[in-house]
Amino acid sequence: MAPGALVAQAVSAVPTYSPAPIPDTKLPRRNDQAPRSIFPDGIRTSGQHNPIYSQLKPYSEFPKEITGPTVWHKEDYEGQPERWVHRFSAEEVAELSATADAFIESGTPLTGITKSNFPLPILSQELTKIRSDLVDGKGFVLFKGFPADVWGPHKNAVAYMGLGTYLGYFVSQNGRGHVLGHVKDVGDDPSQIHRVRIYRTTARQFFHADDGDLVGLLCVHRALEGGESDIVSVHNVWNTLQREHPDVAELLTQPIWYFDRKGEVSEGQEEYTKQPVLYLEPGGKGRLYSKWDPYYVRSLTRFSDKGIIPPLSHAQVRALTILEETCQRLALHMVLEVGDIQFVSNCHLLHARTAYKDYPAPAPRRHLLRLWLSTPEIEGGWTLPFHDSKELKRGGIQVNDNPPVCPLDAE
Ligand SMILES: [Fe+2]
Repeated sequence: MAPGALVAQAVSAVPTYSPAPIPDTKLPRRNDQAPRSIFPDGIRTSGQHNPIYSQLKPYSEFPKEITGPTVWHKEDYEGQPERWVHRFSAEEVAELSATADAFIESGTPLTGITKSNFPLPILSQELTKIRSDLVDGKGFVLFKGFPADVWGPHKNAVAYMGLGTYLGYFVSQNGRGHVLGHVKDVGDDPSQIHRVRIYRTTARQFFHADDGDLVGLLCVHRALEGGESDIVSVHNVWNTLQREHPDVAELLTQPIWYFDRKGEVSEGQEEYTKQPVLYLEPGGKGRLYSKWDPYYVRSLTRFSDKGIIPPLSHAQVRALTILEETCQRLALHMVLEVGDIQFVSNCHLLHARTAYKDYPAPAPRRHLLRLWLSTPEIEGGWTLPFHDSKELKRGGIQVNDNPPVCPLDAE
């Protein structure tokens, strides 16, 4: 979960409290005012939105069992990397390298990178198939052999983002509008979950989804120990809950869950959203998808203690516990080496990360470069949260003149 919306915000159908006014100096600009010199085709932001409640489907319309390639079991893939790993060939690396060099030479800002100015005639054939599998299939892939330790920060960023253009549309990852993020321990205190985003710590991340339809992670430096990845098919989790805990499944479909915006709040917004955990696409293929992160649900005691919002009920605490346990039981484990890129669907997969320990200084800390990508064909997905099916750029966060690519050697 991450920053909030500004444009096309739906009118909430539930009683809300009035958020405190934001000082003028911090007023965000609207996303349609984003400088075109930075975003040639408009601002690309992520956000946390309330759903349009009238479009939510009742539990009775949810499927009892989901079938098809999005429902997978870890046994389908454990010990069979050939089913989910794509190792870049020498020819593909050479193409990626040459295209990245030409892009750098052109002087185009990184945020202006598109398929048309980052041609990959060879690799794109494979990427088209992989994208289809990410959106409508098993929902994950691991690339191997990206020469991250050879190319250096700038070329890594260009080649990685260029690759990303073949999979989705960049959205921002925080209130500063960064579309290329650093996943790295910056010394934040993970116990301060109301204001700290866990990706900036070494703490365990429980099963969750990020704020774009797809998330990519390029491993630049590994940890000394830990920091390993788990992924799970939400559709398998759903089927399992239907068999074992249908009451939990039902509770997760109800719009009773408050999610923290962790201070990344746009003008006029509340500090939180209220939504279900599991949705049905209102149109499209009618697929089930999830929006979940327990840290963002548990961090709201500063409001529930004051009676502004209700605290989590016993039934909700039980549901989130069972959800986590079910995910852990069904998950596929993977380890990212330097030069690996993992892409995962946030719509029908949840992912987790084990806690980790870095190498002692001066060795580099664990470092992943992150992309959040929108895939507009998923109606109501992370980047089209029921607001305006013609609006491909998700809501608005603070749009300013800060570099939208986080400085590559920063944080
Ligand atoms: Fe994540």
